[in-house]
Amino acid sequence: MEKTIANISKNTIQRSINPVYKTEDFVLYNDDCLEVMARLPNNYVDMIFADPPYNLSNDGITCHAGKMVKVNKGDWDKSQGFKKDLEFHETWIKEC
Ligand SMILES: C[S@@+](CC[C@H](N)C(=O)[O-])C[C@H]1O[C@@H](n2cnc3c(N)ncnc32)[C@H](O)[C@@H]1O
Repeated sequence: MEKTIANISKNTIQRSINPVYKTEDFVLYNDDCLEVMARLPNNYVDMIFADPPYNLSNDGITCHAGKMVKVNKGDWDKSQGFKKDLEFHETWIKEC
């Protein structure tokens, strides 16, 4: 099924997402941002600062401190192909 915010809301009702830290005016989640944002009420967020995956970890190389190193940072940074990568980024940006 396509990963849209509407589908995520329908599919994740069974699973609870709990904050990892919470104060009177601050809540921290460590979970799938699409699933978390789908549950937040409208006008709930004051500011969004994002540092998303750039999908660059695909067995490429780069130059770090004068040395050739692998770019691979982890599975979370692997490209799923242009269409799926774009869909993910458009989905979270739209939800923001
Ligand atoms: C470019 S890194 C950000 C690193 C972070 N700024 C730091 O200094 O530790 C992107 C992060 O997004 C996380 N990530 C990937 N997909 C995600 C998703 N669907 N929801 C939430 N986080 C996600 C990855 O685990 C990774 O830690």
